[in-house]
Amino acid sequence: MRIEFLGHACFLLEEPQAKVLIDPFLTGNPLAPKQAEEVDADYILVTHGHHDHVGDAVSIAKRTGAVIVSTVEVAGELFKPEGVEVLAGNIGGRVRTSFGSVKLVPAQHGSGVAGGLACGFVVEIGGKKIYHAGDTGLFADLQLLREEEVDVALLPIGDFYTMGPADAVRAVEMIRPKAVVPMHYNTFPAIKQDPYQFKKAVEAQDLCRVMLLEPGQSWEL
Ligand code: NI
Ligand code: MN
Repeated sequence: MRIEFLGHACFLLEEPQAKVLIDPFLTGNPLAPKQAEEVDADYILVTHGHHDHVGDAVSIAKRTGAVIVSTVEVAGELFKPEGVEVLAGNIGGRVRTSFGSVKLVPAQHGSGVAGGLACGFVVEIGGKKIYHAGDTGLFADLQLLREEEVDVALLPIGDFYTMGPADAVRAVEMIRPKAVVPMHYNTFPAIKQDPYQFKKAVEAQDLCRVMLLEPGQSWEL
């Protein structure tokens, strides 16, 4: 299993059988390490309808034939009308995929679509569980994820639109993943953060390993 960070909240999870792309905001992201045309995917998971998460999902799905996974209102408004293949689940539900499964879990954030819900994803792939939080503030139900026994949590630390570094440390305390990768920072001036401060704070409490990935860097699990 390989995790490649493509900037902002975009990650590519890759194993021999599948490429799973999450929140592919490449075009218009000043820190994107790749162009949308260079990215391949079998599945594209979209946490919510804001432009910095939907990004290039439609164009990549049309080019690659990837299936888009999202919540039902977001998928119905943004993806189904485009004629791309969609798996529209909802909060608490597990969507079966060719590589394993994707569980849609709550996120406290706007969905960008009237009546819709933002979500996070627990992805079971290659014998690992990866939790992508999407955009979210801190909320107490994050502690339910502890029972999922998450291997890697991808958590926003940017503040302003999502939880900031201090709340992200509290999220790590609740989720207790084996490792955490911070995301959703430094893309724009409003979300400028020092990820080393977050790393120090998590390690000071001996909560878990912290992997800092620069856009374009990957990590072999
Ligand atoms: Ni958002
Ligand atoms: Mn965002």
